[in-house]
Amino acid sequence: MNEVQLHDVSFVPFISAQQIEQVVVELALRIDADYKGLNPILLVVLNGAFVFAADLVRKMTIPLQLDFIRLSSYDGTASTGQMKEHFFWKSSLKDQHVIIVEDIVDTGHTLHHLLNKINAEHAASVEVACLLKKPEAYQYPTPLKYAGISIPNKFVVGYGLDYNGLGRDLDAIYGKKED
Ligand code: IMP
Repeated sequence: MNEVQLHDVSFVPFISAQQIEQVVVELALRIDADYKGLNPILLVVLNGAFVFAADLVRKMTIPLQLDFIRLSSYDGTASTGQMKEHFFWKSSLKDQHVIIVEDIVDTGHTLHHLLNKINAEHAASVEVACLLKKPEAYQYPTPLKYAGISIPNKFVVGYGLDYNGLGRDLDAIYGKKED
């Protein structure tokens, strides 16, 4: 893994593809065991979670449904707190067991915006699966049941995460050099 330059910022290797795979397998096993017989619906938060979700569902073995949501609150490398809604899921969530699939939970604004919307749909249950979380930045009490790796408050790219559109295709996670 080498340093990568995206726009004006240098990023250095932070979490390897092997480490990511191990965490994804562990999460898949846990979710499989907890949701056996429930046919959960996984709501993938685009764009960032597309790589994590694709790997996670292919490691899972139980029957499941997939749907997609697109929201954004990021501008460059900072969360604005202002939520832009692009589109929402198509499925009815009533009485469904919903798992929100996020790439990273930072402040938690995106997630809580979504939780409010989902709760209004009377789902049978709602949990969160995220590959990464930033505990120092997280501003809500809601536990993240299926959280992969806790990272410090630094800006990362790769494995679906971008910096102003670039870096989503990297197979590992890289951290901003100055953070
Ligand atoms: P939150 O609303 O502050 O929790 O931010 C959640 C969203 O911001 C994530 O789904 C990502 O799309 C984006 N985000 C947060 N932290 C990072 C990061 O370190 N790199 C790239 N995107 C991030």
